Amino acid sequence: MAKKIKRIGILTAGGDSPGLNAAIRGVGKTALHYGMEIVGFRDGFRGLVENRRLKLDKSTLAGILTVGGTILGTSRDKPHRMVIDGHTRNMTDVIKANYKKWGLDCIVCLGGGGTQKNALRLHQAGLNVITLPKTIDNDVAMTDSTFGFATALDIATETLDRLHSTAHSHHRIIVAEIMGHRAGWLTLGAGIAGGADVILIPEIPYDVMKIAEAIRRRSRSGTNFSIVAVAEGAMSRDDARALNAAEKKLERARTLHDKKEAKSELAALDVRHAGNTMRLAKQLEELTHLESRVTILGYVQRGGTPCSADRVLATRLGSACADLIHEEHYGVMVAARGDGTEPVPLEKVAGKRKVVPPDHSWVKTARRVGTCLGD
Ligand code: F6P
Repeated sequence: MAKKIKRIGILTAGGDSPGLNAAIRGVGKTALHYGMEIVGFRDGFRGLVENRRLKLDKSTLAGILTVGGTILGTSRDKPHRMVIDGHTRNMTDVIKANYKKWGLDCIVCLGGGGTQKNALRLHQAGLNVITLPKTIDNDVAMTDSTFGFATALDIATETLDRLHSTAHSHHRIIVAEIMGHRAGWLTLGAGIAGGADVILIPEIPYDVMKIAEAIRRRSRSGTNFSIVAVAEGAMSRDDARALNAAEKKLERARTLHDKKEAKSELAALDVRHAGNTMRLAKQLEELTHLESRVTILGYVQRGGTPCSADRVLATRLGSACADLIHEEHYGVMVAARGDGTEPVPLEKVAGKRKVVPPDHSWVKTARRVGTCLGD
């Protein structure tokens, strides 16, 4: 009897990142080589609910390796909590029915931390799922790295390079806010590569007096400008304590009222609030008497063509993913491990975040070259 042709679905979810199209191509071309059929679903998990598809064949997969964004579109929709006609609904059963209707053997989900959790839920609901780790934040657990990170790192580094000459000319402090959600990889990497004088990351809460002292020391030795690379999730020690207390309160909350109260306290402390960066710049200006300016890098870090390292990584992971589908090895994330790849059970990835360990070699390196880390 002829072997049934495998049909795989593929979607991209969460924030976009450079290398998504390279990964789609990596999965797709290898899958075609195995004689599989591939169907793309548009705008993340919503496309699976609304049956919005794009057939991926030789011609749609051509010419996308270098293209930024995702040809499939993306969204932050969650299968179990999707807003449909103004109401939040659990759409898991609809997704299951559509998976069956389109005769899928597997669904490949390309995404960051949130996508890993959503993929695990679908896997637990009985679907064959495989994920790839993508995000500029590099904070997905159990993988050496995520695609998108290397490109964003290059962009942030180039920005710090450019800020140096203007800060130097005007004898200013320039505070550059870099993305990364609640992880400091991007800021730490760019800060080291771009020679920032101060690097502030969420994993090391800062004391503004220590930063000001480091900047004043530079001024005393004749260098009256400074570049401060601050992660969007970086916090002062006081804010970190308050956040910790609010998180504990939420954990302990039993009634709906207590949960609501704890959640609104957390929202007020939003660690990614650009106001934190503005406040920091103002404090430093007051404490050092140097003029200060703020640059928020924002979405330029996610846009545009992927760098070569991300193209290689995304192609490698995508191609390994198709191999796993061929072997019917499901319920895993394809992790980058050294020069190779490794399937990691989704249970080991979902709900975990890879943050910068305070004794990480990058942290030690930054300290050794005299960078102030705010502590
Ligand atoms: O996860 C990638 C990321 O760019 C984070 O660095 C940032 O905090 C977040 O997404 C921004 O999300 P959105 O695109 O929803 O504004």
